[in-house]
Amino acid sequence: MSNGSEKNDNESVDSRGDVLASKDASFNSELSEYLLSLKELADETLDARVRFSADCPRRLSEAMRYSLLAPGKRLRPVLAFVASELCDGEREKVLPACVALEAVHAYSLIHDDLPSMDNDDLRRGRPTCHKQFDEATAILAGDALLTFAFETLARDIESPEIASQCVLTLASAAGATGMVGGQADDVVWASTLKSGVGAFDIIGETLAVAASETSRRSEKTVDDPRQFGLAAFLRKIHRRKTGALIVASLKLGALTAGATSEKLDVLASYGRHLGQAFQISDDLLDVLGEETVMGKRVRKDASSGKLTYPALYGLETSRLTLDETAENAKKALVEAGNLFDQDSRAFKALLYVVDYIVRREK
Ligand code: IPE
Ligand code: IPE
Ligand code: MG
Ligand code: MG
Ligand code: MG
Repeated sequence: MSNGSEKNDNESVDSRGDVLASKDASFNSELSEYLLSLKELADETLDARVRFSADCPRRLSEAMRYSLLAPGKRLRPVLAFVASELCDGEREKVLPACVALEAVHAYSLIHDDLPSMDNDDLRRGRPTCHKQFDEATAILAGDALLTFAFETLARDIESPEIASQCVLTLASAAGATGMVGGQADDVVWASTLKSGVGAFDIIGETLAVAASETSRRSEKTVDDPRQFGLAAFLRKIHRRKTGALIVASLKLGALTAGATSEKLDVLASYGRHLGQAFQISDDLLDVLGEETVMGKRVRKDASSGKLTYPALYGLETSRLTLDETAENAKKALVEAGNLFDQDSRAFKALLYVVDYIVRREK
């Protein structure tokens, strides 16, 4: 990531416009090519597998494919591919999970952009789904992508046991105590602030719960008890609205490879830190990023009253927290010792993804 004043030639983004190829100090062409090939496989798989019979109204399938196939980074399918390879899985077996993860992600973006949510008109460099089509079609396209995700897992994963584990894992990550729960707290916080009613009164109970969870885990605390509650609340929002699907991506990759619960736990721990880092960098990019590179509107979070890392801590501390969180993600993997082959391409790629997230520009 750049603050705009420190750009140099090494920081230009690859012409394919992708992450996984962001050229910076940690650029590694071998790993970057590997990750890009996985991203391209995700693109091909989505295009081939997300097609509908004539019973699906044409406008609905157009809206679904419009948002799903728009140029995104495909981070979640890529994580699933890499997790599967790390656990010696066969690539073919992860494909349904990749489709399901990106379908849930695309649905979450369509709904996130709606006028009643973040009210955005630009996504992945294109008009948002409700702008390109209409609001009702966008809501329904999101609903249908969400449903399609579970249809795909149930139908296309051969082993019934693994299919049901994947369905359970993705459903709980996406639902009321996962992504939707995080989104609910995110919008409630912002609308509470905007309405002028005391935010602390309205969500005081949530804050108290979040604060007590924090003290139980004896995480780093801040002096002001109000900040203490808010800090925990912010982490809790990010853990669910963004982190949960990232953790699920790693778990689905591992589950389709038939990995042990020990391996799943390590990947989940890596994913929790990675998810937190990913949303901190998203918050930072809203302040520091460029609209043309990001493909979405920037400098919106503060005026929308969003609870973000820059809003609560300022840029410098947010940046430090991002670095610290990224280090914790790497540590979770490295400290697993011999559980994984640390010389493998997949292991190195997971570490590389952490660096990418710290430095990404989109
Ligand atoms: C955007 O996700 C929404 C967040 C969770 C911050 P991505 O940054 O992965 O979006 P795409 O898929 O690349 O468009
Ligand atoms: C959204 O977070 C996370 C989702 C679950 C979609 P943001 O609202 O910050 O994501 P962007 O910035 O619109 O992509
Ligand atoms: Mg949002
Ligand atoms: Mg948004
Ligand atoms: Mg954002």
